[in-house]
Amino acid sequence: MSSVSLLVLPILLLCACSAFAASEVDWWEAATLYQIYPRSFMDSDGDGVGDLNGITSRLAFLKEIGVTATWLSPIYDSPMADMGYDISNFTKIYPVFGTMEDFDAMVAKAHELGLKIILDFVPNHSSDECEWFQKSIKREDGYDDFYIWDDGKIDAETGKRVPPSNWNSVFGGPAWTWNEQRQQYYFHQFLSKQPDFNFTSPMVRRHLIEVLTFWLERGVDAFRIDAVPHFYELRLANGTYPDEPVSGLTNDTTKHDYYTHIYTKDQPENIELLYEWREFLDEFQRQHGGDTLAMVAEAYAPIEVLSDYINNGTHVGSQLPMNFNFIQLRDTATAKDVERLANHWMDVMWTRHKTANWVIGNHDNSRPATRIGEKRADMMTIVTHALPGTSVTYYGDEIGMPDLATECTPTNCDFRDPERTPMQWDSTKNAGFSAGNSTWLPVNPNYKLLNVQRQRGVARSTLQIFKSMSALKKTPAFRAFKEEGGFSYGALTEQVFQIVRTAPNLEEYRVLANFGGQVERLDDLTNKTMEYVIVTSHSPHRVGAKVDLSKRIYLMPYETVVLRWAA
Ligand code: GLC
Ligand code: MG
Repeated sequence: MSSVSLLVLPILLLCACSAFAASEVDWWEAATLYQIYPRSFMDSDGDGVGDLNGITSRLAFLKEIGVTATWLSPIYDSPMADMGYDISNFTKIYPVFGTMEDFDAMVAKAHELGLKIILDFVPNHSSDECEWFQKSIKREDGYDDFYIWDDGKIDAETGKRVPPSNWNSVFGGPAWTWNEQRQQYYFHQFLSKQPDFNFTSPMVRRHLIEVLTFWLERGVDAFRIDAVPHFYELRLANGTYPDEPVSGLTNDTTKHDYYTHIYTKDQPENIELLYEWREFLDEFQRQHGGDTLAMVAEAYAPIEVLSDYINNGTHVGSQLPMNFNFIQLRDTATAKDVERLANHWMDVMWTRHKTANWVIGNHDNSRPATRIGEKRADMMTIVTHALPGTSVTYYGDEIGMPDLATECTPTNCDFRDPERTPMQWDSTKNAGFSAGNSTWLPVNPNYKLLNVQRQRGVARSTLQIFKSMSALKKTPAFRAFKEEGGFSYGALTEQVFQIVRTAPNLEEYRVLANFGGQVERLDDLTNKTMEYVIVTSHSPHRVGAKVDLSKRIYLMPYETVVLRWAA
């Protein structure tokens, strides 16, 4: 869909009188999702680390900005080798984050406010400090094959024992680590402190279902499934693990990218697990009632694979495989790039499943204000909320927080930390994040100017734009997106991106976003005269002013506007 020859009147009239019911949109289909990184969101007890009571105290803020559901990065007990993605106990709260009572109170408060809680489910691996791994080391009953163990090979030349295969871990270095006690290698996709589960063991699968049950019974509304592409690895019938071919992408033999992951990524069995869990979630819902228990899947995987996550024709799985296409956007991005990345998703996922979601940032990637540019942060907020489907915002991006490069010590920093600095609430000590003397990562010194409190009072602030967009997302024009004529989008020029959303009553919204640093001219977009309803700080126009789109109009550098027309 490159330009805008849409909205043929007869089609719209047809839509208007047929069942164009916005109510048929399930909660996760057109939602405003918000990711909280618990360490960095709000510290209630002054130890400099965010916690559950802190989150509870800020839930009203999520309500204020129009969030539907919030997903929390892991909150479970963990030695924090991978900041909580290395779980030592799947049904215990990390003590620094609080207690199970704190968790229950958080869920209760969220539900009271009409917010949903999504937990991060990390089924690929545990911590090496997990009881299950300790039992597996000792080959205790049933736990013997709970993880992936192997003797390795004897190098013919040196006579030395070497790992079973050349597989590298995602974070670099061999994916096999020798365990002295058991006298075998174990496999780990990530850190050596994150041994991978052996999914061919029915007991592993049972344990994981028990974990899901535990949290569902405590009122959790959905799960974000971690690291889906990494579930299974190929083990040949003779019990060996085949070497992966060299990719040619890097000369560094320790890098994950050194090999092409034909045996350790996107194995066909991975989706079977999603189907299994979906069946379980649907059954739980049938028994207990309530809203759809959605499954968000984290996967940096080819679109065809993601499509099968949803539905492969015989089974249904994750409703929301995260769309990371916009994570690729850099400060050189043009409207054409956005169009191409949007089409890449929509051509497959919209066509097959009528579903879309737009992730703009997360804890593993540079923040949009840094990655795409501060001048375009508001624009991307508007675009990700105006496209059909669900938007996914990482905490702090709603106020345009940038990355902060921090000095790394071996214990306090990994390469993904710049986007994990404390939330900037106000201009008081530690940005209102913590009353403590220090914080686990430094607060960005820009907090006195860039914070929630300040942006509340500024008409065109990033926060106000976020709020206006999440509010618009709840209106008929933005919910009625499954019918023909409900939306269209595309690049009008190299730099100008347009999105049109149409309600059953023909009310129309039109986003015009100038990605470039030049004035852009647009001629004869439509015969309508529309009203400015949202304007970014780069716009010379006032909210409430009218514009005749049958005439030539100009967009200032980086200007983004939302226009409205009603019959
Ligand atoms: C996912 C998480 C990442 C974590 C990894 C291993 O990619 O987003 O932060 O390190 O899984 O669990
Ligand atoms: Mg704390």
